[in-house]
Amino acid sequence: MKVFLTRRISGEGIKILQTSGVCEVSMWDSDEPLPRAELLKRVQGVDGLLCLLSDKIDAEVLDAAGLFKAILPMGPKLKVISTLSVGYDHLVMEEVKKRGIRVGYTPDVLTDATAELTVALLLATARRLPEGIEEVKNGGWSSWKPLWMCGYGLSGSTVGIVGLGRIGMAIARRLLPFGVQRLLYSGRTAKAEAAEVKGEFVPLDTLLAESDFIVISCSLTPETQGMCNKEFFSKMKNTAVFVNSSRGAVVNQEELYQALATGQIAAAGLDVTTPEPLPTDHPLLTLKNCVVLPHVGSATYSTRGIMMGLAARNLLAGLQGTAMPSELHY
Ligand code: GLV
Ligand code: GLV
Repeated sequence: MKVFLTRRISGEGIKILQTSGVCEVSMWDSDEPLPRAELLKRVQGVDGLLCLLSDKIDAEVLDAAGLFKAILPMGPKLKVISTLSVGYDHLVMEEVKKRGIRVGYTPDVLTDATAELTVALLLATARRLPEGIEEVKNGGWSSWKPLWMCGYGLSGSTVGIVGLGRIGMAIARRLLPFGVQRLLYSGRTAKAEAAEVKGEFVPLDTLLAESDFIVISCSLTPETQGMCNKEFFSKMKNTAVFVNSSRGAVVNQEELYQALATGQIAAAGLDVTTPEPLPTDHPLLTLKNCVVLPHVGSATYSTRGIMMGLAARNLLAGLQGTAMPSELHY
């Protein structure tokens, strides 16, 4: 069987595949993304595909993968897609389902790293770390001043988490010890596990009106696409800090820019944007009260290594028709 990896992967992940005796591995041997035309070419006739969140897997790609099968009924069929991510909004699931392709992903193993990064981003944004670092370098630090470089602290605050899933819970557990007074959450349904973090399930409007920090930790779906828009920001406190470590498309960036530029909200910390990478001349990057990171939620050496191993094992199990360590059950 043949598999194609859309990016260079290393360590245990690649070893598992190369020594499996199950598949012939071909990969885009680069740290940079492969051009779309190359993807369409390289997926032809593969049994398995290992992809990244930056690869859009839609009908065109799946049809390209099925080309040989269409000509030769006994030919190879794409059986499994293994994505090196917990998010799967880059897979057009309707098309994947239609073709009965199994999907593996990497939940759980990146929860701690992503929650940790979200807390780091929240603190960096609320306490203005990038701006402070800049002032030290550019001579703006003239003396200790009572109100210079003031920001917002977590102690005694109300935190609102939109989407209290695995990562949302891990963020909540990490924030509570900072002295958070109330933890609100909103989403589709109330969660039993919220009791552990004393989370109060509230309507989104209540969360927006009462939170000092708002953390977006939901997945990107048709319901959440563009959810953080003008109306959303207008319901937030002027002193509130907005943090997003889920997917950029949950946010209407033009309206976020307006909210930040006009003082409608205090600050924003984003680990995800649209597009990615964000162009260096993007208006958001001109704002002192906006901290943007290059989608590094799960980026610890250890987590990425574990993710690559898991994605490789998911791929193999999909090829062999056995249970995957982490299968997306759709
Ligand atoms: C990262 O954003 C992921 O989905 O794993
Ligand atoms: C701050 O450094 C203080 O001593 O208050």
